[in-house]
Amino acid sequence: MSVQIDHLLTESRRFAPTPEFAAAATAQPQLYTDAAADRLGFWADQARELLHWHKPFTKTLDWSNPPFAKWFEDGQLNVAYNCLDRHVLAGNGDRVALYWEGEPGDSRAITYSELTAEVKRAANVLTKLGVEAGDRVAIYLPMIPEAVISMLAVARIGAVHSVIFGGFSAESLRSRIDDANAALVITADGGYRKGKVSALKPAVDAALASNDSSVTNVLVVKRTGQDVEWNDRDLWWHDELASVDAEHEAQPFPAENPLFILYTSGTTGKPKGILHTSGGYLTQSAFTHKSVFDLKPETDVYWCTADVGWITGHSYVVYGPLANGATQVLFEGTPDSPHPGRWWEVIEKYKVSILYTAPTAIRTFMKLGRQIPQEFDLTSLRLLGSVGEPINPEAWMWYREVIGGNVAPVVDTWWQTETGAIMVSALPGVTVTKPGSAQVAIPGINIEILDDDGNAVGNGDGGLLVVSEPWPSMLRGIWGDPERFKETYWDKFGDKYFAGDGARLDEDGDIWLLGRVDDVMNVSGHRLSTAEIESSLVAHPLTAEAAVVGAADETTGQAVVAFVIIKASQEDVASHEDVSAILRAHVAQQIGAIARPRQIFIVNELPKTRSGKIMRRLLRDVAEGREIGDTTTLADTSVMQIITDKLK
Ligand code: PRX
Repeated sequence: MSVQIDHLLTESRRFAPTPEFAAAATAQPQLYTDAAADRLGFWADQARELLHWHKPFTKTLDWSNPPFAKWFEDGQLNVAYNCLDRHVLAGNGDRVALYWEGEPGDSRAITYSELTAEVKRAANVLTKLGVEAGDRVAIYLPMIPEAVISMLAVARIGAVHSVIFGGFSAESLRSRIDDANAALVITADGGYRKGKVSALKPAVDAALASNDSSVTNVLVVKRTGQDVEWNDRDLWWHDELASVDAEHEAQPFPAENPLFILYTSGTTGKPKGILHTSGGYLTQSAFTHKSVFDLKPETDVYWCTADVGWITGHSYVVYGPLANGATQVLFEGTPDSPHPGRWWEVIEKYKVSILYTAPTAIRTFMKLGRQIPQEFDLTSLRLLGSVGEPINPEAWMWYREVIGGNVAPVVDTWWQTETGAIMVSALPGVTVTKPGSAQVAIPGINIEILDDDGNAVGNGDGGLLVVSEPWPSMLRGIWGDPERFKETYWDKFGDKYFAGDGARLDEDGDIWLLGRVDDVMNVSGHRLSTAEIESSLVAHPLTAEAAVVGAADETTGQAVVAFVIIKASQEDVASHEDVSAILRAHVAQQIGAIARPRQIFIVNELPKTRSGKIMRRLLRDVAEGREIGDTTTLADTSVMQIITDKLK
């Protein structure tokens, strides 16, 4: 952290918007003035301007029972109607909603009319299969149009989706399906990744194998055509869609109707089902998508590279862009397959004008060198966004210079699964940007940096980031666990939301994010819990004890590093097997490849305090190759010496 702080104290580059950009910008300084004068009135205006309400709301916020907020409570809307039908009715049905680019190079352009038609049929299928408003539907799909169609079809009938990233294992899928008591699963036979076909349906079959599952049907999209096992509950997506009526009238639902659950890692082993509802969530995703990305829906081609399995894919692939009637690229592939210029080729092909991606990707491209993007025409790009982890000033500058041709503004956006939408970001055309800083709260959002006792820190000081007033797209709870919701976010600072991130204010009062202050790691912009990986490691018969830390990594921000003690009874096995390879594979199989540790150190002891708490700080020193810090609070101060000797 100290390296980062040094950086930000010396960072003096500033980029003011050009007068032309500022004059034409979607966001104007007036937004800040309006929000400061009447915060709730500002959000009510946004909700009315950006969305269609079947029944207008009269109340903006009910915060009488914190931390349970209600926004636009007496209003009614249909989220899918807002993302689809109303654009068609407004005469924009022929506008392309999705330029879908498949990994093997197949592609489809889908207009708003076509997308609406498919969602209507899919909604009829869900109803035919007995799914009702409030029921949960699990979605486990690759980045294909059916992922977007499924989410919108679920929303259209007032049901609740739980999208599970396709990279998660059968076990992770099962625990999420069970926690939400899902009635239906939508999946595909398989997907493409780096030129290979990978299966998806077997993971669903394994997840549902116990037979006591709440799931009555599995809808299967045919993507790869590979052989799949077939059970009584399985139905082909294309057969079902062909068998139902093409018409479907969207019914209104209350603004606080649950829209989705999305599981994310916390500080314990059990992922949290973050609950989002409809009106407030859609208002803030649409508002931020429009003003943070300077959206001009008639002319822009927008591309967010996130998978729909993450919150960025929910808010900035599905809901924000479609509510705003944007044209966007939906991409199934990876950045480097079949060649390392694949992304730039996509940008050239579709003349992408707005790109939203993660620092990890930018740092990977930096390593490969600027000659690769320079082979492509990237002049269509006029705005660049970053999300998921702190972006170091070097990566920010490279993004601006090499990808943005030194003219496209870069916006670094801070937010979380829990916040639902962007909370801290520069506004292009308004803010003078600074490499490495997320800068300022967006209009209508109140952010404070507090010390441990809850006092606001001054400029130049660091502390903990909190959101001090409720916001429209805030999480409404943790599915099935109101106590955990209160404990995790609200116990620390009363009715201010504690985000779990450290941050610092510079001399101008701009915000610099410094990473998590809890046991949550951030690997390539994805959240992983140390506890979840530790429990996976100790579930293996070889393991006696395990401790996991997030160690700094040049490309992925952090990397998972594990310290494992082998059971005495297993030491024989361990002496002639590659234990670390076995355990790495085990974690990948139990949780998913993203959780696979970069390194596993086999040790005889772990550093613990007298009360038995593992001192991860010291293990992080080892993992990052630093001198070991203060060991005086260890129960046995010689432990660190023993560990470092063993690892020499
Ligand atoms: O630590 C922060 C980091 O990612 C966490 C949220 O992760 P997740 O819920 O998976 O959502 C990621 C995409 C919104 C935060 O607590 N984070 C996210 N954006 C930034 C960031 N850290 C620094 N700068 C950012 N722009």
